[in-house]
Amino acid sequence: MARLLTADPDAVAEAAAVLRASGLVAFPTETVYGLGAAARAAAAVARVFAVKGRPADNPLIVHVADAAGLADLGADVPPVVRDLAARFWPGPLTLVVRARPGLPRVTTGGLDSVAVRVPGHPVALALLRAAGVPVAAPSANRSGRPSPTTAAHVLADLADRVDVVLDGGPTAIGVESTVVDVRSGAPVILRPGAVTPADLGLAGLGGGDLAASPGTRYRHYAPACAVEIAPVGAGARVAAGLAAQGRAVGLVAPGRAPEGVVQVARPGDAAALGRVLYGALRAAESGGLDALVVEAVDDRGLGTAVMDRLRRAAGSDKRTKNARFDVECP
Ligand code: TXA
Ligand code: MG
Repeated sequence: MARLLTADPDAVAEAAAVLRASGLVAFPTETVYGLGAAARAAAAVARVFAVKGRPADNPLIVHVADAAGLADLGADVPPVVRDLAARFWPGPLTLVVRARPGLPRVTTGGLDSVAVRVPGHPVALALLRAAGVPVAAPSANRSGRPSPTTAAHVLADLADRVDVVLDGGPTAIGVESTVVDVRSGAPVILRPGAVTPADLGLAGLGGGDLAASPGTRYRHYAPACAVEIAPVGAGARVAAGLAAQGRAVGLVAPGRAPEGVVQVARPGDAAALGRVLYGALRAAESGGLDALVVEAVDDRGLGTAVMDRLRRAAGSDKRTKNARFDVECP
């Protein structure tokens, strides 16, 4: 059973020792909780894949305490990295660079590149500094489940499979980091996140083909209840229509739920929806709802990332539609 520790300095020191001894530690970041293992400890990283049920060809993000930590991991790092690191680290930005030889194959998914990020959360940074080693950490959910935004979500998926869970409260952003390939010298977005195209000086994804990122092939979020995306302003109407068919319906929308519909969350804007979306998917499932109606937000800024995750949850994403049947969701 995992030890659940409130993230105070003693707990962080204990968790760092567990990481150095090749144990698994779930910890909060500003995006979602991560499931950490020492990135150079192949057996520990292999255990991360095993406990998550993660496909071996989907590489992990390596977390470091500061931009200097990138130097040991990346090779031929282009000049743009210095600028992006200075502007966005610590923060929700992951940079894909060429990998320096020597990282275990299991960590990089057999690729010659590596994804690196400095997380913007005091507990994550304290843990990385105390551990003194780079930490490979995917989101701390079972593969096919929504990413965890609280320690309780981590325990629901992995309680009997990890050594320590550091509880740092709910995460601030709730959507995973922006993944950007910088190997060509110009940023290409592989996964949208809180660092937006505009933040990166791009009009769109920078030519990014979301299908090219190993992880985006898989349908990540597969709640047991149906997820319906309602147009902006139409959440209550869509939910009422489904409820009238006798289904148990929940609503996530800025407006009030109509009679007979469960209000699962009431986010007022895209940032608020990002914070509550994954928790709402889990709540809809555990509450036994047949359907969860989520009102869309405008597909720009942070809304692009939130809508990307919402479409995946609804199974209505063109890029992942066919993949949903290829992935076993434990
Ligand atoms: O916010 C986050 O990024 C969270 C927290 C814990 O840091 N982590 C996270 O990890 O979301 P994960 O494993 O759930 O997603 C990592 C994504 C996947 O889509 C993976 O395919 C991609 O990053 N990735 C990792 N290494 C890559 C590489 N070398 N090239 C392209 N994509 C890569
Ligand atoms: Mg994940």
